[in-house]
Amino acid sequence: MTIHTVATSPIAGQKPGTSGLRKKTPVFMGRHYLENFVQSIFDVVGAEGKTFVLGGDGRYFNDRAAQVILRMAAANGAARVIVGQGAILSTPAASHLIRLNKTDGGIIMSASHNPGGPDEDFGVKFNMANGGPAPEAVTEAMFERTKVLTGYRMLDAQDIDLGRVGRVQLGAMVVDVVDPVADYAALMETLFDFGAIRAMFQGGFRMRMDSMCAVTGPYAVEILERRLGAAAGTVVNKEPLPDFGGMHPDPNPTWAKGLMDEMMGPDAPDFGAASDGDGDRNMVVGRGIYVSPSDSLAVLAANAHLAPGYAKGLAGVARSMPTSAAVDRVAEALGIASFETPTGWKFFGNLLDAGRATLCGEESFGTGSDHVREKDGLWAVLLWLNILAVRKQSVAEILAEHWARFGRNYYSRHDFEAVASDRADAMMAALRGALAGLKGQVFEGMTVSGADDFAYTDPVDGSVSEKQGVRVMFSDGSRFVLRLSGTGTEGATLRLYLERYAAGPAGLNLDPQEALAPVIRAAHGIARIAGFTGRETPDVVT
Ligand code: G6P
Ligand code: ZN
Repeated sequence: MTIHTVATSPIAGQKPGTSGLRKKTPVFMGRHYLENFVQSIFDVVGAEGKTFVLGGDGRYFNDRAAQVILRMAAANGAARVIVGQGAILSTPAASHLIRLNKTDGGIIMSASHNPGGPDEDFGVKFNMANGGPAPEAVTEAMFERTKVLTGYRMLDAQDIDLGRVGRVQLGAMVVDVVDPVADYAALMETLFDFGAIRAMFQGGFRMRMDSMCAVTGPYAVEILERRLGAAAGTVVNKEPLPDFGGMHPDPNPTWAKGLMDEMMGPDAPDFGAASDGDGDRNMVVGRGIYVSPSDSLAVLAANAHLAPGYAKGLAGVARSMPTSAAVDRVAEALGIASFETPTGWKFFGNLLDAGRATLCGEESFGTGSDHVREKDGLWAVLLWLNILAVRKQSVAEILAEHWARFGRNYYSRHDFEAVASDRADAMMAALRGALAGLKGQVFEGMTVSGADDFAYTDPVDGSVSEKQGVRVMFSDGSRFVLRLSGTGTEGATLRLYLERYAAGPAGLNLDPQEALAPVIRAAHGIARIAGFTGRETPDVVT
């Protein structure tokens, strides 16, 4: 088999966003597009003699892209690639395999919660040897490389059979095709009390898991139905499909509406959950009650010690800045550190590696711990199940007790999607320009106590990330945050994050949108959202 260098020229716009390079699938399938980016990855991280993990969420083009990446890995001198059977790996499972096998990193093919299909989204990202997404300095170096690339290396070879578990030779490189679920499921067994959860299911506990025709189906069936004894049919939409069956595999109340309707309906099971395209996000719902991701993180932090993997307590917790401060209150009560990072799981990596945080979470339906270096949807579901099994209470009871103890951080995110980029940029620029003058002004009866553009200094390596979102704080503890999404592929998505604290005991059971109404009005007034974007009503409300 021969190795060629294929002449190419730089393709504009190959800049990784919050989580890797994401583009419309036809763009990725375009001439040299995937190849240029993959070569830039290998040029930056080096491939000679190295071992990588490869897998993806099974979306359209996943299988083709895997073959290309394998040939390029071989051509670039990699010694071995561990690839999930059928080129499938959930993102947390890929992170685990990178760590378990002490590899040099991995390539994950996914556009996460974005729809998949010939006209939808595709993505590629690189994770480091610690199992976590490449930090900004590395993705920036990859982007710089894409701008000067003149050729990529390709092995002349046929497709290999990724359908069968086992070892295959590709040129001088070894390819190990592995069961995507086995090692991940084994890891979960070390963290959670499977016996207690199994007993709960045996006692008649009912659950609905919506895998949204995405990657977690096989994982959820194996773990929930086979190993934990949940009733057959507990997992729905369990077949991963290249177009996710037309679903938008983003587990939030808007896109997982079927699950929400069931959980709010008369025959709701005890517990509901959904996960996203690549299995790192989760939404949890109790019977008749939605759990906001920020509250979920706080409840998990307050109760993690009930699971064997966290019995000795947490070193610290971390949340992204737009996530509510609910978990900070738990950390304070536990006497442990809490960290506030920019949006993006990669910012938790150093804290986890340094042992300063054990649990991390984001308002964007991500929760996870130091067991891998990605957020982990099924992990969160299992930790909830473990807590429910030990406390023997309903989700609603657990939330009520949590709020009674810590107070309630009412929280919601409003998304305005596919806004013209220039309008969104102009709005953010005007808001940034107005920040200095906001302090002391009164809106909706609330006085602005501070306003800034969030900047973060990593406490481990000292790196600084600026302009991570505008936040306006009020003296009663309310706040709103505005930032533009870094994961979209069409126009701009404006995210408005809203928070208001109620200490209790009165006022803990309001509808979040009602409780937040003054903050919503203040945010629209201050940022002039409608004036700049022409949009009044959000497309997604979490
Ligand atoms: C991905 C990242 C998360 C991030 C989320 C939202 O899921 O892994 O860490 O919170 O995207 O990002 P966005 O830039 O779209 O708000
Ligand atoms: Zn995801």
